[in-house]
This record gives sequence, C-alpha cells and structure tokens, in this order.
Amino acid sequence: MITLAITSQKGGVGKTTLAINLAHAFANSGKRTLLVDSDPQGSVGLSLTRQSRHLSGFYDMLGNPAVSTEKIIVPTRMPTLSLIASGHSSAYELGGGSMGVTLHRVRCFLAEVEALEYDVCIIDTAAGLFGATADVLSASNGVIVPQQAEPLGVRSVPKMLEALARMRVVNPELQVLGVVLTMVKEDLPESLESAAALRNLLPSEMVMNTVIPRDDLYVRASARGLPVGVMEEGAESLMTFESLRSELEQRIVPRTSETVNYAK
Ligand SMILES: Nc1ncnc2c1ncn2[C@@H]1O[C@H](COP(=O)(O)OP(=O)(O)OP(=O)(O)O)[C@@H](O)[C@H]1O
Ligand SMILES: [Mg+2]
Repeated sequence: MITLAITSQKGGVGKTTLAINLAHAFANSGKRTLLVDSDPQGSVGLSLTRQSRHLSGFYDMLGNPAVSTEKIIVPTRMPTLSLIASGHSSAYELGGGSMGVTLHRVRCFLAEVEALEYDVCIIDTAAGLFGATADVLSASNGVIVPQQAEPLGVRSVPKMLEALARMRVVNPELQVLGVVLTMVKEDLPESLESAAALRNLLPSEMVMNTVIPRDDLYVRASARGLPVGVMEEGAESLMTFESLRSELEQRIVPRTSETVNYAK
C-alpha cells in the first residue's frame, strides 16, 4: 500500500479538494482507495457525507485503541473508494497530540488499513506541519504539497519542502513528491507568472507537470458533496486528476538517501 499525505503550510490552498479528487482518480483506475481526513475541521467528511458530524473517525481512533479501524471506514457509492471522517478531535484541539503515542497509533492504523487490502491511502491534513500532521508525515510514503498560483506564498515553498525533507530523519521512507499548482487561472497574467516563478525557484522535478485550473465546478462539486469527476461537466477535470495520478505513480520510486537542497 502507498500512503500519500496532502500537506501545506498555508490554509485554503486546495488540499482537501486535491485529496478528494485524487482519491477519486485512484479509485476510478481500479485501486482500492481509502481517503482519510486528519484535519480537525472535518472538511472531507463535510464535503462527501451529510452525517459526518456524527461519524467516529480518525481522532476517535487515535484517542482510543478500542476504536477499530474497520468500524470507522465509511463506504461510498464507488466500490473502490471508502473514507474515514476526522471524527471528534476535542482532546487534540485543546492539548495537541503527544508525539510518541500518536505516532505509534498512526503507524498501527496504517498497518491495519494495509491488512484490509487497500492499495492507496490518501490523508488530507490541516494546514501546518505540527500536531497530528507531523505524525501522519512520519508514517507516510509520500507527501504532496498543493500551492495556489498566486504571488504571495510562492517564495515560502522551498523552505516548506526543506522542512518536509528533514522529516526523513524520523521517517526515511518519506518521499517529497513535489508541488501541485492549484487554482491556476489561465487568463490572469499574475497567476501564470506565479506558476512560472515557482518553476524557476525549484528544481524542475519538484513541480508536477499537471496543474489544477481554477474552475467554479470545484466549488459546485464540493457544495453537492461529490468529487468533481462525477459531475456532468466534470470530464475534463477527471482527466486532469487522471494525469496527476499517473504522474504520481511514475514518481513513487524507491528513494535514494542523498541530502536534497530545494533552493536553486
Ligand atoms: N481548482 C479550484 N478552482 C476553484 N475553486 C477551488 C479550487 N480548488 C479549491 N477551490 C475552493 O477553494 C477553497 C479552498 O479549498 P480547499 O478547502 O480544498 O483548501 P484547503 O487547503 O483544504 O483549506 P484548509 O487549509 O482550510 O483545509 C474551497 O472553497 C474550494 O472549493
Ligand atoms: Mg482542507
């Protein structure tokens, strides 16, 4: 099984949208896919199920070893796609997770998911690299960083990638798969310039070729609780995420252990 975390330092860059639609693309290609919400905001659950506030989920499992992984998995209409909502996270919101214990729980959880014969586990995270997100990264195989194509924020991306690379001290398995440009507006010069600036700033292999265009369809899909690819007008978006999935599958390779410097 491969476990991919979707992470960014900034909020609102399109992590949840990417997680949902990438999970849908993997499931659509026949891979048994589990989408896990590790963001206490509970956005995946709010987007894809109506009863998510009542669902036990990721944080219930972290806080209580008696909560079984199998019981918190929610099936979807697509046989190859299931999800786990974030659940009830009040203990973590108040006190934060305690690194050692939570990391152990996250690793046990992923081992259980693998035993249930999932091929891919995609984990949406809250903005920032702390708390449960640090534990998720310490247990994942790969991390993907969505970045909005806008002037502010692009310059901080190399530092973010370096911080992620340092997590390999705890998790030598972690592959920093790269940045996905999101909400790219083809008719806005500033958006295209920001995308070009990011490609200039980073080694070329650290920015995915596939970009996610800004499209109101994503907002409409999330309002209807659907991945964009199942919307009537969603064929083009489905192809975008198919191409991102295939790009990622080519990138997920056995890691080399050299030190990576992300500034050019
Ligand atoms: N490609 C897109 N085109 C248009 N709107 C988008 C696109 N991607 C995301 N959005 C919208 O932008 C907003 C933020 O997206 P999203 O919730 O995925 O970001 P996030 O990084 O998960 O945010 P947070 O840090 O709060 O978890 C949402 O309203 C979403 O519908
Ligand atoms: Mg989110």
